[in-house]
Amino acid sequence: MKDCHNIADLRRMAGRRLPRIFSDYIDGGSHSELTLGANESDFARWRLRQHVLRDVSTRDLSATFLGASHALPLMLGPIGFLGMFGRRGEVAAARAAGAAGIPSCVSAFAIRPIDEVARENPASTLYSQLYVLRDRALTETLIARAEAAGAAALFLTVDTAVTPVRERDARNGFRNLTRPTLGQWCNILGRPSWCWAMTRDGKPEVGHARAAGFGRGVMEQAGNLARQIDPGLSWSDVDWLRRRWPRKLVIKGILEPEDARRALDAGADGIVVSNHGGRQLDGASSTIMALPAIAEAVAGRMDVLVDGGFRRGWHIALALALGASAVSVGRPYAWGLAAGGEAGVARAIALLAGELDSTLALMGLSSVAELRAGGGSLVHFN
Ligand SMILES: Cc1cc2nc3c(=O)[nH]c(=O)nc-3n(C[C@H](O)[C@H](O)[C@H](O)COP(=O)(O)O)c2cc1C
Repeated sequence: MKDCHNIADLRRMAGRRLPRIFSDYIDGGSHSELTLGANESDFARWRLRQHVLRDVSTRDLSATFLGASHALPLMLGPIGFLGMFGRRGEVAAARAAGAAGIPSCVSAFAIRPIDEVARENPASTLYSQLYVLRDRALTETLIARAEAAGAAALFLTVDTAVTPVRERDARNGFRNLTRPTLGQWCNILGRPSWCWAMTRDGKPEVGHARAAGFGRGVMEQAGNLARQIDPGLSWSDVDWLRRRWPRKLVIKGILEPEDARRALDAGADGIVVSNHGGRQLDGASSTIMALPAIAEAVAGRMDVLVDGGFRRGWHIALALALGASAVSVGRPYAWGLAAGGEAGVARAIALLAGELDSTLALMGLSSVAELRAGGGSLVHFN
């Protein structure tokens, strides 16, 4: 991919390729987008320590999290509608992740269902993201499907009791796309390569919702699935899920040390320190600021993953020093997918891996294990 030197380049390329309604959907956050911005800008409140003359001629970026060793301390997090950003997006992303030796997580709002993603990527580590639905029998079906597809972990997302207004989506009429306006049609038809990619495999549908009889067409299905997300979810449901799900269980959307300890007590194997990429509670803490206290609270007794605003390799190094086992990315690979399909996702992963590698070397470190062992002594608050 020519002229693509960093994640910001992928974002620009994605913006040129996608209809505005979808590029805004990916880029945007809730309300004033304060938390969205803080996720990215708060990295600048920290600095890395530079140690020299330490022979860093060989380096090992591998990391162990959620019970397995991976080539990088990185995973692709759950992103809804991936299949609307690139052809067979979920399959392409999982394939790029598998080739890079890292796991990927299939969203509950995936276009291609998890069984298809698993079938097409037999060698890669897949996780499945779950929303607990008002209809518990349907929730059971989704869990059983994740189990049958061989998902190594279930990510229960808990920061989505309601969906706040995302003003870019409201302005673009994102939720009303069931009947596009003339303006929307013009914008969509102005992106012919995207239109071609979207229509080649038939009309796109939301994978899970398709099976649940949630209507016809992506937007109607997504709306019905979203209305099913249960705002009554509580810790007793986590207890139920822990009994029901035999493999790794991860709670996604933790921002408070007290909730992290609660997740540990409930038997979760891990958490994702997450504010949903600034798309839920506007005004919430950035994740890099929330991470240290949470890592301290669980003190190595469970895997602490973190997401939100990671655009540079040094961001990943900082999170690992602050106690994370691994980092999960969202938009970087969604932009990669929109910009260049599977190759674009591979490019996003390679950019982050390359930057992480040089960061380690310049910090005087030979491995991710050494970085994690050094912890907070390797960084300082600015
Ligand atoms: C377009 C988009 C769709 C998302 N869909 C989901 C989803 O279906 N389920 C979920 O748990 N999180 C979802 N997320 C949140 C991501 O998993 C992740 O928390 C967030 O993107 C991390 O921030 P980053 O995009 O800055 O890396 C979505 C995020 C974006 C940007």
